[in-house]
Amino acid sequence: MRTEHARPIRLSDYRPPDWLVDTVHLDVALHPSRTRIKARLALRPNPAARGPAPLVLDGDELTPLSVTIDGAALPETAYAAGPDGLEIPQPPAGPFVLEVETEIDPSANTKLMGLYRSSGNYCTQCEAEGFRRITYFLDRPDVMAVYTTRIEADRDEAPVLLGNGNLVERGDVPGTGRHFAVWHDPFPKPCYLFALVGGRLDVCRTTYTTMSGRSVELAVYVEPGKADRAGYALAALERSMRWDEQAFGREYDLDVFNIVAVADFNMGAMENKGLNIFNDKYVLASPETATDADFAHIEAVIAHEYFHNWTGNRITCRDWFQLCLKEGLTVFRDQEFSSDMRSRPVKRIADVRVLRGHQFVEDAGPLAHPVRPETYREINNFYTATVYEKGAEVVRMLKTLLGPETFRAGMDLYFARHDGRAATIEEFVACFAEAGDTDFSQFMLWYGQAGTPELAVTRRHDAQGGTLVLDIAQVVPPTPGQPVKSPMQIPLVLGLVGPDGRDVPLVRRGHGPVERGVLVLTRPAERFVFDGITVPVVPSLNRGFSAPVKIKADLGSDDLRFLATHDSDPFNRWQAVQTLASEILIGNVAVIRAGGGVRHDGGLVHALASVLDDERLEPAFVAQVLSIPSEGDIARDIGRDVDPEAIFNARHALRRAIGNDLAPTLRVLYDRLRDDGPYSPDAASAGRRALRNVCLDLLAAPGHAGAVALAAAQYAEADNMTDRMAALGTLSLHDTAEREAALADFAERFRDDPLVIDKWFALQAMIPDPGTLARVERLIDHPAFSLGNPNRVRALLGSFAQANHTQFNRADGKGYDFVAGMVLTLDGRNPQVAARLMTAFRSWRALEPGRRDKARATLERVAANPSLSRDLADIVERSLGER
Ligand code: PHE
Ligand code: ZN
Repeated sequence: MRTEHARPIRLSDYRPPDWLVDTVHLDVALHPSRTRIKARLALRPNPAARGPAPLVLDGDELTPLSVTIDGAALPETAYAAGPDGLEIPQPPAGPFVLEVETEIDPSANTKLMGLYRSSGNYCTQCEAEGFRRITYFLDRPDVMAVYTTRIEADRDEAPVLLGNGNLVERGDVPGTGRHFAVWHDPFPKPCYLFALVGGRLDVCRTTYTTMSGRSVELAVYVEPGKADRAGYALAALERSMRWDEQAFGREYDLDVFNIVAVADFNMGAMENKGLNIFNDKYVLASPETATDADFAHIEAVIAHEYFHNWTGNRITCRDWFQLCLKEGLTVFRDQEFSSDMRSRPVKRIADVRVLRGHQFVEDAGPLAHPVRPETYREINNFYTATVYEKGAEVVRMLKTLLGPETFRAGMDLYFARHDGRAATIEEFVACFAEAGDTDFSQFMLWYGQAGTPELAVTRRHDAQGGTLVLDIAQVVPPTPGQPVKSPMQIPLVLGLVGPDGRDVPLVRRGHGPVERGVLVLTRPAERFVFDGITVPVVPSLNRGFSAPVKIKADLGSDDLRFLATHDSDPFNRWQAVQTLASEILIGNVAVIRAGGGVRHDGGLVHALASVLDDERLEPAFVAQVLSIPSEGDIARDIGRDVDPEAIFNARHALRRAIGNDLAPTLRVLYDRLRDDGPYSPDAASAGRRALRNVCLDLLAAPGHAGAVALAAAQYAEADNMTDRMAALGTLSLHDTAEREAALADFAERFRDDPLVIDKWFALQAMIPDPGTLARVERLIDHPAFSLGNPNRVRALLGSFAQANHTQFNRADGKGYDFVAGMVLTLDGRNPQVAARLMTAFRSWRALEPGRRDKARATLERVAANPSLSRDLADIVERSLGER
């Protein structure tokens, strides 16, 4: 570990760069092990800096070959260059041109940062700090330059050569078997958006006409033979481009937009200017190989990366503390896009499930951090659910507070004012404060204060006087480094549902009608008095999940059942059922731990039945209602002294009860939803499949042979991956011969398709049986598994550690030891992926004492290792720290 990098970086230490770079000319000669990069940088002193300063450029694993200034070789005494940087203590006082040649080995690059190879092709990943692995540079996002890239390669090895911007020249290098392409990107950008690709690729193309009538060539490049699986991604790109024009008035700006899918990628995808590079998991899809969920993810990720062109690229981040400026905002934009393309309520429910399942968990443990962190040791560890998902919620709250028109005016102001620049959160929020003539100083706490606010709501109704009093108290729990919190500004959307199911008008004493139902909380405790409430009402709180908070309200199960059938807000109908189920489950976990037998509650089944019978509801929504809280949800609601085994048993018992009690209805629905037409990935068809497959899973939950056979039949007959995978998922929960037969069939059927085999790895890793650890250990040796491929690692090891609550948290601690061992093996090869896997331990403090001690011992053993990467050391040490 290099000590100069081990100390924390602080937001409060920010100062502008001493030097600016106006233009970058790169000449990259691709070679499998000795790629040479000539960089020509036009530098000048930053007028905003403090005066003459040395030039200090970042580097990482670079071999320097030569250095010149304004065309003259620099004597070796005038600079210091090594793998980690280049320093010129006394550079010229004014503008100058620096030329540096470096050599790197892309084939040896297993970190998948900088220039590396995937399936023999060359590709790059520069966010956050990968450009320094290609050439020496001021590797920080507030240094924005215009790039020209010449790429040269062996014509056979890399017939396709792609760069940022527009293609300006291409040709052969006579007599060498090599060729070149020159790409120019006229838009100034930070170096993390640099990219190049060279390789053998097939392509799927179309032409797009922008709202002002310009023609843009769109292309999706994939590994040879896979172009027939790229069509959905390409169509999703066209929809994204149209939507950004319509919803935000944003038009694309270059003549081409290229997407390249690669098999080895640390994250989901990357928004490099004009040349997005994707994990092929988020590009490749066909009915036979991709599920409905895969199609939806592809559409969302394609949109996300495309939307970055305005939120991230044209306007970028001043420094990495501002990461949510681009990520939170762009997630908000892709969520809105998917809501418009699909079903808004179903998308909202799915997004809130993700938020609670990842961000709330992060916020409750030792890795909690604010949406805008104030310090970090390794920025790669801050691409988190908090920055992305909670960051999106914060933008959504701005919209809720301001209303859609003013929000749009604020966005327009942001685009107009900051285009071409690197901005901060303060500058972003100032645009909305100005557009809405509002003070957002308290709202800024959403960026600075970690932890999930907890609201306690009590009501008092005086029917005679016609008043309803709501008392709302808020608490933000302590988080690492933030023991004491201030009250937040919380937009809480409220409805009061009358006996006929209709909303009673909201008239607040002393304030009048409540606009759009938005109550704005600002104090630790406050009282809201509503007049004209002469009938009994049930409050529907936080409609649409208007704020990312936890709520404890004095609603009884009658109230919840009433909301489940009558609330006009579909999100809260779903929420009411979840709350009902959660209360039953938590009660039964306690009963199980005390050695008793679970109680059966007819009320929940009743509520489910009424939703099943409501033919006006969309099937995708009903499917969400029927999906009871996950083991993770229950653990989170319990909060401490968590016993994963008891949680599993309580949940299993409830699923059996539902499957038994509703069997006739579920079976009728299962048969009625059968679709004999050709597969289509559209949201309505996907919703019907989702509901049908939830019915199947619940029917099989009691374990009756007939229902398991039904799943086996569906597995065998399916003509699409959604139904096949759902059936296999159901089978995987039943320790039967059918399960093993189907798993073997699946492996054989898709043996040549790594992305599909990932589903097979993941499913087996999630089987809640004591034999699973041994199964996963065997699968490590499967020929299709590789520690070098992040998708394989996430499918097998990530699924086991993050999604198999009973087996990762085995009482004997063997799940912890296994995962820690794999993390240490991985760390030497790919620290980012290793560190990410290690975050599976983030909830260890909430476990019951036996497991907690075993998890801590494992963490301490990893921490004691002297040669951890910075990425892994940071996660392990913070996990062991306070909270
Ligand atoms: N910026 C990418 C996105 O969210 C994520 C990413 C981060 C990809 C770091 C690679 C490396 O769109
Ligand atoms: Zn992003």
